Amino acid sequence: MSNERIILETRGARKEYISSYNQKCLALDRVNLKIYANEILCIIGESGSGKSTLLNVLGGLTRPSNGEVFFFDHRLHELKDEELARIRNQNFGFIFQFHNLLPEFTVLENLLMPLMLTKDKKCFGSITEKARVLLRKLGIIEKINNFPKELSGGESQRVAIARALINEPDIIFADEPTGNLDAKNRERIYDILEEVNENFSSSIVIVTHDKDIKLKDYKTKTICLKDGQVI
Ligand SMILES: Nc1ncnc2c1ncn2[C@@H]1O[C@H](COP(=O)(O)OP(=O)(O)O)[C@@H](O)[C@H]1O
Ligand SMILES: [Mg+2]
Repeated sequence: MSNERIILETRGARKEYISSYNQKCLALDRVNLKIYANEILCIIGESGSGKSTLLNVLGGLTRPSNGEVFFFDHRLHELKDEELARIRNQNFGFIFQFHNLLPEFTVLENLLMPLMLTKDKKCFGSITEKARVLLRKLGIIEKINNFPKELSGGESQRVAIARALINEPDIIFADEPTGNLDAKNRERIYDILEEVNENFSSSIVIVTHDKDIKLKDYKTKTICLKDGQVI
């Protein structure tokens, strides 16, 4: 993939947490990573190995203690909070293990919510249509007016995927996207993520402790994380 465009890169990323009773924890240690356009990067590691921390550093949700994070020419580690938030909102999509759907809103409203904050009201018609297309593609259009508590685990996860896709992100970050699903739904989610990668040309970073993750080899790179280091 060396001839491909680099989208996101870390150089010497290090993250140290200091707990409330002053205990230090080195969660990331000298991580150098390159994420290319249209690739799927799978980061595998045991619980506590630093996967979520790395994903949050890559996604601009956490700042590294040392080191650099580049999104194209943007130096994420140096951006002001508002600039970072704008990039997260416009260029990144996030899928979390527990979906983080807002319980008091319908599937459609959950999809539109991030855009309602930033977009002009005039755009709502076209965004609603886009939401419908996504829900149809993901096989959950019939749930468009349901509330999160009326969905199965797999359906909720697909809504979360649709929400991550609605702003056509350059890159999607998925933290244990199959964590609480059974084997059948797990495979289905991986299939969907591959489909998303093909049809929407978003790069995808998946972190998981699931060593049995099954993705097509040709676009997927797998790396392992142990004690905060890429091994
Ligand atoms: N906010 C925090 N404060 C202190 N320590 C943390 C915090 N978040 C994570 N850690 C510690 O950092 C290490 C890596 O955590 P994490 O990135 O969540 O790993 P993983 O996602 O692989 O389970 C763990 O030892 C964890 O206890
Ligand atoms: Mg984690």
